[in-house]
Formats: sequence, C-alpha cells, structure tokens
Amino acid sequence: MDLFEYQARDLFAKHGVPVLAGEVIDTPEAAREITERLGGKSVVKAQVKVGGRGKAGGVKLAATPDEAVARATDILGMDIKGHTVHKVMIAETAPEIVEEYYVSFLLDRANRTFLSIASVEGGMEIEEVAATRPEAVAKIAIDAIDGVDKAKAQEIVAAAKFPAEVADKVADVLVKLWEVFVEEDALLVEVNPLAKVASGDVIALDGKVSLDDNAEFRHPEFEALHDKAAANPLEAAAKAKGLNYVKLDGEVGIIGNGAGLVMSTLDVVAYAGEKHNGVKPANFLDIGGGASAEVMANGLEIILGDPDVKSVFVNVFGGITACDAVANGIVQALDLLKSKGEEVNKPLVVRLDGNNAELGRKILTDANHPLVQQVDTMDGAADKAAELAAAAK
Ligand SMILES: Nc1ncnc2c1ncn2[C@@H]1O[C@H](COP(=O)(O)OP(=O)(O)OP(=O)(O)O)[C@@H](O)[C@H]1O
Ligand SMILES: [Mg+2]
Repeated sequence: MDLFEYQARDLFAKHGVPVLAGEVIDTPEAAREITERLGGKSVVKAQVKVGGRGKAGGVKLAATPDEAVARATDILGMDIKGHTVHKVMIAETAPEIVEEYYVSFLLDRANRTFLSIASVEGGMEIEEVAATRPEAVAKIAIDAIDGVDKAKAQEIVAAAKFPAEVADKVADVLVKLWEVFVEEDALLVEVNPLAKVASGDVIALDGKVSLDDNAEFRHPEFEALHDKAAANPLEAAAKAKGLNYVKLDGEVGIIGNGAGLVMSTLDVVAYAGEKHNGVKPANFLDIGGGASAEVMANGLEIILGDPDVKSVFVNVFGGITACDAVANGIVQALDLLKSKGEEVNKPLVVRLDGNNAELGRKILTDANHPLVQQVDTMDGAADKAAELAAAAK
C-alpha cells in the first residue's frame, strides 16, 4: 500500500525524523485558518500517490492566507498524471532551503537484499540524475540482519559524498528512516528532498512510503491508512469477504481455483474474445484450493453484482478439493443467492476437470440449472463464455 505524503510524514514524525508541520484539507477555505496558524504563509501541496507533483503545478508557495486559499482552489480537483487531487496539505514553509538531497531505503528483489539509494543532487529531478549521471547516485546494499546503525549510515553518507557539515545530521536521519522501514514493515521509504536549510539543519520536506500489505496482520493501524475513496467498490466488497479479486474492464466474469489457472483463464478468454466482438475478462478471482459452497457463493455474488459482467466462466481444476465438492458448491451457491433474493440472470459456463471431474459434471447435469452450461475443455468453455457475453453486450 502506497501512502500519501501526509501519512508518510506522520510516520516520519513518529520515529523522530525531522519534518515540518502541516494539515490535510479537502476544501480551499480551510487553508486560511491553517496558514494563519503557521505564521501567515504556507506551502499548498497536492496529495496524490504519484511523483512529480511539483513539476505538474501541484506544489505552490502561498505568501498570505488569502493566497493559500487561492492556491488550494487551483490545486484541488487538478489532474496530476491521471490522479485527481481530492486533498491538499497546507504545510509549514521551510526556512530558506540551501541544498536538496535524496535518500531512500527499499527492497532490492533482484539482489535479494535491501538497498539504500542516496544522492546530494536531490530535488525534483532525481530520476534524471540517475539516468544521466549515475555516478552522482550512491547505492549501498543493506544486510537484513545488521540493518542500519550509525556506522552503516556513515558509510552511506560517505558513499554519496554528503558535505562534512551535514554528514552527522544526515546519518542520524538515515538511522531513523531505517527504523521507520523496519518497524512499519515498509517496502520503500523515500525522502526527496531531504533539505538542508540556512540554519544547517536537515528536514524531510517530502516523503514516499510503501507499506508491505503482507504485514498488515501485525499492524491493525494500517487499516486507517487505506484510501477508501479511491478503492473500487467491488474490490472493497471482495476484500471484506477475504477474496482475491481484481476488477478488470471486460465483460466475462471469471472464477477459478489457483492463481496460475486464473491467470491462464484470463488469457484464453481474452484470446477467445477476439472472435466475439472483442469481449474481455471482467475480473481476476481466485477462490483458492479448498473452495467451499460459501466461498463459491461469495465469489459469484461479487461477480454477478458487477454490472459490466455479461457471462461468467467458472474454471476449476479439481485437486485436493475434488470437482464433486466444487459442483455441489456451485449448486448450493446459486440456491444461496436465490434465497437471499439476489437475481441470478447471467449465464454461467462451467468447466470441471481433474479429481472427480465425472462426478462433478454429473452433479451439475442432474441439477439442470437453466443458467448453467458445461463445456469439457478450457478453450471450449472460454469460447462459449465469450460468445454469450458478446451476445448480451
Ligand atoms: N514545506 C516546504 N517548504 C518549502 N519548500 C517546499 C516545501 N515542500 C516542498 N517544497 C519544495 O517543492 C519541491 C517539490 O515538492 P515535493 O518534493 O514535496 O513534491 P514532488 O515534486 O511531488 O516530489 P516527487 O517528484 O519527489 O514526488 C521540493 O523539492 C521543494 O523545493
Ligand atoms: Mg519530492
């Protein structure tokens, strides 16, 4: 989960990284009172989860409370690289910035380690610095066990050639940022710029943090960080039911067991769709190995509730959970939905193969549900589902 700048800033503050005051608002007028409290001037910053806000006009200085309201009016509603600005942070203005640096910690998957990236040429163009002058960007591997202590931080500072007068302060910030990285279970902690101000202090003026969703079970506080406004309602409903669901933009609803099978189901449906008016998969949904009738019902409920879905393809390869159990699950799921008063009016194409396929197919044949039809092969079923979706489009 990527965080907004203001959320990253809160985490930094919690771990003692120097940051400036700021408050988040969603109406321009609120900028006035905050700016007055900040001493009459402020920086208005778009809160969107994408870099390059400054260059896009999403970071503006305001010299008066009136100006802060005007800038907030400009920025709220703005589109930055496809992200609409719904919130702005009214931040304290940094005292005269002398230099801007870049520091980050991240997971380096390719090298199976953690990595620190640091540069004294931070600010708004770090990607360009990395591309054109790679020697100005230091990359230091971090051992997962040893982590970053003061000595390691000094090694990073030396490699990036930070000026002597800030070396100690930058090293302190690095130790604290590593604490953020470890204790908050982050995959990325980035500060750009880490600014040196006239007094000689260094301050984190911008923050990007990405938290590891797999660690959410030990951080109940992550829940409050989710951007509920941006979440797709179907994905949010699926998440609440504990389903692995991703909304896509096609018309054929997909349910399968096992991520690999579902991924290849998306491929065969997209391929089959080329012959049927260009229909495409409407979602990814993996109901997992031991799918019960209830899980099947939950999955069908989400998919049938998607107005884009015109047909559903249930593609199951029986393994530990045999096809007869899955077939019973489908029959019970349809009954369950009916008893809940949900309208099931979209055709289902079911392909069962693997463990107890014969028995599973017989259960569905005997149930003789008017909306369910069976096709024995994956390609054949994909073609049928695409054809039905195209006919209903
Ligand atoms: N509180 C502040 N006071 C003064 N200047 C600031 C403040 N916050 C940001 N700036 C200036 O605005 C520039 C851009 O801000 P910031 O880095 O937060 O946004 P950004 O352009 O989206 O960054 P990135 O591309 O790294 O995501 C900074 O490099 C800094 O010079
Ligand atoms: Mg920045």
